[in-house]
Amino acid sequence: MAGRIPQSFIDELLARIDIVDVIDPRVPLKKAGREFKACCPFHGEKTPSFTVSQVKQFYHCFGCGQHGTAITFLMDYEHMDFVEAIEELAHRAGLEVPRETGGDNRHAPSTQPHYALLERISDYYQEQLRSHPQAGHAVEYLKQRGLTGEVAARFKIGFAPPGWENLANALNADSATQKLLLELGLTVQRDDGKGAYDRFRDRVQFPIHDRRGRTIGFGGRVLDNGTPKYMNSPESAVFHKGQELYGLHEARKAVRKLERILVVEGYMDVVALAQFDINYAVATLGTATTPEHLERLFRTVPEVVFCFDGDRAGREAAWRALENSLPALADGREARFLFLPEGEDPDSLVRKIGKDAFEQGIASATHLSDFFFERLSAQLDIDSIDGRARLVNLASPLLARMPDGMFRQLMTERLAELAGTSVNALAGRLKLPQDAADDPQPPAQPVPVAGGTSPVREAISILLYQPALAREVGELPFQEPVDVPGVSLLTELLELLQQQPLASTGAILEHWRDREETRHLAKLASWTPVSEGLDLLPDLQHQLQRIYRQHLERRIAILNKKEVSHTLSEDERREYWKLQTLLQEAR
Ligand code: UTP
Ligand code: MN
Repeated sequence: MAGRIPQSFIDELLARIDIVDVIDPRVPLKKAGREFKACCPFHGEKTPSFTVSQVKQFYHCFGCGQHGTAITFLMDYEHMDFVEAIEELAHRAGLEVPRETGGDNRHAPSTQPHYALLERISDYYQEQLRSHPQAGHAVEYLKQRGLTGEVAARFKIGFAPPGWENLANALNADSATQKLLLELGLTVQRDDGKGAYDRFRDRVQFPIHDRRGRTIGFGGRVLDNGTPKYMNSPESAVFHKGQELYGLHEARKAVRKLERILVVEGYMDVVALAQFDINYAVATLGTATTPEHLERLFRTVPEVVFCFDGDRAGREAAWRALENSLPALADGREARFLFLPEGEDPDSLVRKIGKDAFEQGIASATHLSDFFFERLSAQLDIDSIDGRARLVNLASPLLARMPDGMFRQLMTERLAELAGTSVNALAGRLKLPQDAADDPQPPAQPVPVAGGTSPVREAISILLYQPALAREVGELPFQEPVDVPGVSLLTELLELLQQQPLASTGAILEHWRDREETRHLAKLASWTPVSEGLDLLPDLQHQLQRIYRQHLERRIAILNKKEVSHTLSEDERREYWKLQTLLQEAR
């Protein structure tokens, strides 16, 4: 079935639609010069800094730094995934989404059979809960845990019957299917290597879905006090525990506009909360909350509330979750912490106190900033100079992991206040981590081309602003690979633009989706020159010339070192003089 969506289709699609038509119905835009403006939907603000460029087919917020194409907008604003966003746009444009067909071994092997098999097995487990002769005690167990049939059906809860080879028999599995069962961890190889047996036996089965609702694995609970209490599918080609969250699909389905998500520990907690009409809980899959989880959550909602036991282990887990949240905490995003009374989990507590009281607890959950400073100060004597210095030492590296913005600024001010020092004195310790050697800070305002950035960045900025220039620069002043950071990206961009001279900036950026460079490119794409209507060609040529000189200078410096250490060969000596001449000419 579904193969990869060809890049050429994405080009075509972005050429047909207009980003303004996509954004305007959702976030009403006002014309401002050549661009459109609105208050940013991704962070709270009173004066509009969210800018949509029709020419570039690209949006950018000068306040919070969010940016992207029509595709990115649907993903971030409507919480669609990539394919959903493409399908939505294609629908608008009246286009059918084509898929690349098999036989193309440049791509990863298809995971279609994995999803199809997992779906069949999920159906099978559900069917067994209804009809297997020994399902009675499973049904009894679920009832005794207080679950209704309705909620069990909503989460597609099933029953893995007792026995060792149920799956292979029920599926009438051929050898390919048997192999796939093993690969998915649904069966386990026998020690003697002869055949395999079912992993899940006589357990209540919780199917785990990805965001799009495809089954990717199972968790199975024993019906008594046996061990292990839960068994889970192992990692597979389609199941990655560090990314997936149990209940996220169900939450997205149940709540039309999700505003917050509650992160709990167990399958049963998610299901029990849903039974009490709290439909926005998800659980990690027996792992700690990872930065990938957080990124995924904050792409879905602006507020994440972590729910942990009030005991020591719970507070430790909460602190780890806090540490992992920091990089995701752009302005407009919030993380809070709900600590439960000793001995309770969300399942037991909601049954005891009910929906309203539980939601009141959520509403008054501890703010991240409070938990942060309480926890750090608790270990210290804040009234002593030593203690305050220690606080700065502990807090600074953590704050440095937060993205630049208002929230970080406020946290820094609070730290300065607690430590009895000034924000300025802290500034040096809070240098943003360099994310890449050639990565500029996001410009707060449109920046002039001149100034402290590198020629590679400037050349890329100009090209992304006015892609048509790529055809006018003509021959590059250099042919051989140039030893300057970022040049391969620039060359790649030039080639693409020469092939697709009419593509918008947004359409160009989509070629880099999922590649590491996207972030850099998108930042550079937000650049605009100080005034419209300038002829940027001479600037671009000037930057390319600078890059060429940098390359020559670097190579000459290397050869110079060799000369000093008397290891310069005859060929290299000739090269050296040739480079010197070229450099003279290039000045
Ligand atoms: P808990 O033991 O807190 O689960 O484990 P729970 O949901 O409250 O279980 P019930 O109420 O007794 O049914 C929390 C999570 O840790 C993982 C599972 O993901 C579980 O939901 N876990 C727990 C395991 O993977 N294996 C285990 O043996 C136990
Ligand atoms: Mn429990």
